[in-house]
Amino acid sequence: MACMVIVGTQWGDEGKGKVVDYYAGKADVVVRFSGGNNAGHTVVVKGKKYAFHLMPSGALRGTQLIIGNGVVVDPKVLLEEMEMLKKEGITPKLLISERAHVIFPYHRALDEAEEQFKGKRKAGTTKRGIGPCYEDKAGRFGLRMCDLINREMLKEKIDHLFPLKEKQIQMYGGRFDFSKEQLLQEYNAYGEKLKEYVCDANLEMNNAINSGKKVLFEGTQGTMLDVDHGMYPVGTSCNVTAGAACTGAGVSPTKINEVVGLMKAYVSRVGEGPLPTELKDETGEYIRKKGAEFGTTTGRPRRVGWLDIPALRYACRINGISGLAITKLDVLAGLEKVNICTSYSLDKKTTGEVPPSCELMEQCKPIYKEMKGWQEFEAGKAEEVAKKGYDALPKELKDYVAEVSKLSGAPAYLISIGPGREETIILKDIFGK
Ligand code: GDP
Ligand code: IMO
Ligand code: MG
Repeated sequence: MACMVIVGTQWGDEGKGKVVDYYAGKADVVVRFSGGNNAGHTVVVKGKKYAFHLMPSGALRGTQLIIGNGVVVDPKVLLEEMEMLKKEGITPKLLISERAHVIFPYHRALDEAEEQFKGKRKAGTTKRGIGPCYEDKAGRFGLRMCDLINREMLKEKIDHLFPLKEKQIQMYGGRFDFSKEQLLQEYNAYGEKLKEYVCDANLEMNNAINSGKKVLFEGTQGTMLDVDHGMYPVGTSCNVTAGAACTGAGVSPTKINEVVGLMKAYVSRVGEGPLPTELKDETGEYIRKKGAEFGTTTGRPRRVGWLDIPALRYACRINGISGLAITKLDVLAGLEKVNICTSYSLDKKTTGEVPPSCELMEQCKPIYKEMKGWQEFEAGKAEEVAKKGYDALPKELKDYVAEVSKLSGAPAYLISIGPGREETIILKDIFGK
């Protein structure tokens, strides 16, 4: 098995960082193909926590890392992450696609201004300039890594674009408080520092695939945030589903062998929009606290809810999920009962499908199947439990996993019972050395 895509099946933050780091131990190359530093991927090794926003989550494994053409790169953030790794004694083996688009300060200002303009229809973005950068990409106004590392090209394009960006920001009533000279100076410096990593990363990646290397494609966000398939218009600005690995990295669909769907044992959402199973009561508070559900990128409290099977089944269909990685099962431990939303009630009818609009999704009332909860793992013992394997897990937890598999139609490949690398149980080894 050579190529595996890992995608979020929910609203993001399913534990992609942890699971990508886990599989990266067996991979030769890890590729980011979508999003930008709106992503916050956490990896915990020996109790130490790392948060990656642009760097692929294989960074701690010493594997070849690639930032693909589909990613939008904020060079400042990337350089900060490289610096952080350097302090840990890690020199990442990084390649950046020359075709990846670059985020500029005016994108961040526009992100803020557009959200303000949208008012109650805002998405609650991360304000990292992601949307406006993808807008420029689709509008063919964008500047790419190949421009960033070319002083003359950068100057010529910024000279042309700057007055337009100023007008756009002012049109939305936003703040525009940086000079062109400052911007050029800053970005010339970024270009100088990053140019050794910028190349035809796609060629390197396909050479690796053709020589039988194991390549892992690391998704960002989650299916319900995908610009086509997610909750429009409160999701993100690009495709984040499995097909985006093909366009965002330049790999043929015929080369992909497995698509692993990441899911939490419950759901979480940071930002606006409908969440049918949202828990606004003390159970929700309990899960948020125990699961440390606060945004990795913005620190915002995440909204939490019971597992949503219509959304999961939808994600399995859109992504062609071959197997699931289920995280945070430890967080639900200790609850007497655990609910699974099996369908929605919408307009006096029962449906198992996700409606196309926020307005209809807001009206969906969850229909639950109640499951028995399972006992707490003894404090600090999750790693020990994981070592003993799946059979050692509480019966009720295994029943929950079996039910999720049955309802979603996808087998469980991996179970996670803690944030640490070792707090992981493999049910089917699809990426062994
Ligand atoms: P990502 O965006 O999908 O990579 O997820 P985040 O890193 O933003 O959020 C997931 C959070 O859950 C992080 O703090 C992880 O360290 C943590 N985490 C991952 N898997 C588990 C698990 O099985 N149990 C617990 N308790 N925490 C986990
Ligand atoms: P990871 O990869 C959770 C949400 C934002 C907002 C909407 C649009 O860590 O799972 P954007 O800044 O992309 O324009 O915001 O999408 N969002 C995420 N939520 N996890 C993420 O990434 C997210 N990236 C964006 O909160 O509602
Ligand atoms: Mg995250």
